[in-house]
Amino acid sequence: MLNFVRSRSQQRSTRSMSLGGMDYPDPKKKGSFVGKILLAAVLTALCILVLKRSSSFNAPSPFSHHEPGVTHVLVTGGAGYIGSHASFRLLKDQYRVTIVDNLSRGNLGAVKVLQKLFPETGRLQFIYADLGDPKAVNKIFSENSFDAVMHFAAVAYVGESTLDPLKYYHNITSNTLVVLEAMAAHGVKTLIYSSTCATYGEPEKMPITETTVQVPINPYGKAKKMAEDIILDFSKNSDMAVMILRYFNVIGSDPEGRLGEAPRPELREHGRISGACFDAARGIIPGLKVKGTDYDTPDGTCIRDYIDVTDLVDAHVKALEKAAPKKVGIYNVGTGKGRSVKEFVEACKKATGMEIKVDYLPRRPGDYAKVYSDPSKIARELNWAARYTNLTQSLQIAWRWQKSHRDGYGTA
Ligand SMILES: NC(=O)c1ccc[n+]([C@@H]2O[C@H](COP(=O)([O-])OP(=O)(O)OC[C@H]3O[C@@H](n4cnc5c(N)ncnc54)[C@H](O)[C@@H]3O)[C@@H](O)[C@H]2O)c1
Repeated sequence: MLNFVRSRSQQRSTRSMSLGGMDYPDPKKKGSFVGKILLAAVLTALCILVLKRSSSFNAPSPFSHHEPGVTHVLVTGGAGYIGSHASFRLLKDQYRVTIVDNLSRGNLGAVKVLQKLFPETGRLQFIYADLGDPKAVNKIFSENSFDAVMHFAAVAYVGESTLDPLKYYHNITSNTLVVLEAMAAHGVKTLIYSSTCATYGEPEKMPITETTVQVPINPYGKAKKMAEDIILDFSKNSDMAVMILRYFNVIGSDPEGRLGEAPRPELREHGRISGACFDAARGIIPGLKVKGTDYDTPDGTCIRDYIDVTDLVDAHVKALEKAAPKKVGIYNVGTGKGRSVKEFVEACKKATGMEIKVDYLPRRPGDYAKVYSDPSKIARELNWAARYTNLTQSLQIAWRWQKSHRDGYGTA
C-alpha cells in the first residue's frame, strides 16, 4: 500500500502547467494532494484505534502511580559504582527502582546487568537525563510517582575538584538543589543523601563522630557540605525525612560477581587506591606510588577507613526503612578501623596474588595523616554494622570481577 502511494505521487509530482513563464499548480495535482491528506488522516485514525485497543496503550506505566505495598525509589547515579550496587540491593529487596543517570561517569553495562536480573514489568526503569537540567528533572518527577530518592549522582574525585572546582559546585551543590526542589514540588517525602568524610576536612581528633566540626579543605568536600546545608535548612520547615550518610573510603563489589567498579580510563589519574592497586596488578600501570612515609602513624603511611560497598548499601536500606516524616538523621558510614596505606598495599598483593612494585615518595600536599570513623551512632540508631572488616576479603571479591571484566562493563 505504501509503495502504491509513493509511486503515484512520484508520477504526478512532475506535473505542472506553465503559463506566460510562471508556474501554476495543476488543479488535478491539488485534488491528489487533498486526497493524500485524507488518506493520511484515515491511516492515523486507524493507527490510534489499533493502539488504543492494545492493552499496553491504555495501561499506565507502573512507575507512574503509587502502588500499595510497593516503595518506588529514584536512584540518581544508579549507573555508577555505588548507585548500581544500591539499585541491585533495592531490587533484591522488592523495591521498585528508577535509575536516572547521564552516563557521564557511570556504565550502561551496569544497568543492563540489572535489567537482565530483574526483567519483570514495573521493577526497574532507566532514564537517561542530566540532573543539571531542571526541566528534564521536573518532567521525570511529574511522569513518575516516587516514594523516596537516593541521591548518589555526583562527580567524586578530590584531585579533580581542585583542578575544576566549578564542575563540582555545579554538579554536586547546584544539582542537589534541583533534585530537592523537584522533590518538594512533587511531594516526595524521603531523601537519602550520599555525603562524604571529606566534609570534615582535617579534624585533629580521631575517630570522627557526627558532631566533629566540618571544615572541608577541597572543593569536593565543600560542595558536599553546601549540599548538606541546603538539605538541612530545607528540612527545618518541611516534613521531609532526611538521612545524610557520610561515607568513608568505599571498596569491594558484589560477592556474586555481577557488578563491579569500572571508572572511566580517563579518570585513572584522579583515581582511588583500589583502582590503582588493580591497575598495577594487571600491569596497566607500572606500580603503586605511596605518597608519604613520615606521618605520625605506626608505619608512617596515611590511615584511612575502608568500607565495603555491600555494607554501605545495607546502611542505605536501613536508613530508608527507618526514615520517618520530619526525621533528620546524619550518620558516618565506616568500619571504625583505620588501615594504613602499607596495610592496604599488602592486602592488595595478597588478594590479587600479584607482586606489585611499590615506590615510596614524599608526602602529597593536602593529604591528612589519619581519617577514620566512629560508627557507633549508626550502629545504635539504625542497627547497622560493617560485616566486611577484612580488607583482603573485600579486595579479593573486587579483584575477581576486575579479572573477568578487563574492559570494565565493555565485556559484560
Ligand atoms: N566512592 C567513594 O569512595 C565515595 C566516598 C564518599 C562518598 N561518595 C559519594 O557516593 C556517590 C556515588 O559515588 P561513586 O563512587 O559511585 O561514583 P560514580 O562516578 O561511580 O557514580 C556517579 C554516577 O553519577 C552519574 N552522574 C554524574 N553527574 C550526573 C548528572 N549531572 N546527572 C545524572 N547523572 C550524573 C554518573 O554518570 C555516575 O553514573 C557520590 O555522591 C560520591 O560523592 C563516594
